[in-house]
Amino acid sequence: MRLSCRIRSPMADTKPRVFSGIQPTGRKTLGNYSGGFRQYVQTQEAGDGFFCIVDLHSITVDYDPAELRRSTLDLAALLFATGLDADRSTVFCQSHVTAHAEAAWLLAAVTSYGQLGRMTQFKEKAEGKEFISAGLFTYPVLMAGDILLYQTDLVPIGDDQRQHLELARDVAERFNYRFGEMFRVPGGQFPEIGGRIMDLQEPTNKMSTTMSTEQGAVYIADPPDVVRKKFKTAVTDSEREIRYAPNEKPGVSNLLEIMSVATGESIEALEQRFTGAGYGDLKDAVGESVVA
Ligand code: AMP
Ligand code: TRP
Repeated sequence: MRLSCRIRSPMADTKPRVFSGIQPTGRKTLGNYSGGFRQYVQTQEAGDGFFCIVDLHSITVDYDPAELRRSTLDLAALLFATGLDADRSTVFCQSHVTAHAEAAWLLAAVTSYGQLGRMTQFKEKAEGKEFISAGLFTYPVLMAGDILLYQTDLVPIGDDQRQHLELARDVAERFNYRFGEMFRVPGGQFPEIGGRIMDLQEPTNKMSTTMSTEQGAVYIADPPDVVRKKFKTAVTDSEREIRYAPNEKPGVSNLLEIMSVATGESIEALEQRFTGAGYGDLKDAVGESVVA
């Protein structure tokens, strides 16, 4: 009965158990930094953190085994480079702990088929594909297993993972209701600003490793000059006013959010600072703040 083993550390009574996962695919973006890496480091300070490189999730779409092994190591390097500390946090690879795959099967029996079919990430990733794996469909069950196995209190993630976390909570509640209190029901931690960083060229779409163009995404490993250039060519709008209005002015609002993430200044303070300035000034300043 592996699922019954509780692996809470001695510190667990005083510190919240934190768990998050990140896929070892593609080059990680500024969006991943804002919703992922940045939050991992913040929660590491306050929590008992587990950060998992979720390679089993990455095999639900087409992949090359050698490349996946390499990018798993690359991602581990990036997690440490962005501030995770192996003395304070547990950083590990999902496929090395076989309980994750086992939990996914057991939890699939208390997961609603209908709810899985409503997952927007599944619909987006399946669209236009000739072969859609069953694994892509059951992906959120594996994610629920990741989280629930560790009796997680808090899951730091970006906005695109809200629906998956909701499913994990439902699975925990259904399991507990049917079989007795087993799992802690996890809560999410979402950034107040920068929970959904948008593509610089198509600011109504999420900045993404797989969907964005080279110009639309800023990569964490981009050299400073490349970062500056990408911001210089960012799409804005035909007005001249710098203000935060995501629906009316997605490009400008995204730039303000990115600058707020990079500098820690509030959106209001930035709006004031750029009153009367032109879009060119804003783009240069955002680029510099990200480089810094
Ligand atoms: P992934 O690379 O899909 O494993 O995502 C790792 C983390 O980055 C997850 O917590 C995502 O929610 C977060 N993330 C991905 N893209 C963005 C984005 N454009 N804005 C904010 N957070 C994001
Ligand atoms: N599905 C998440 C993403 O694509 C990655 C992930 C897998 C995850 N397991 C997790 C995130 C557990 C948080 C907790 O970003």
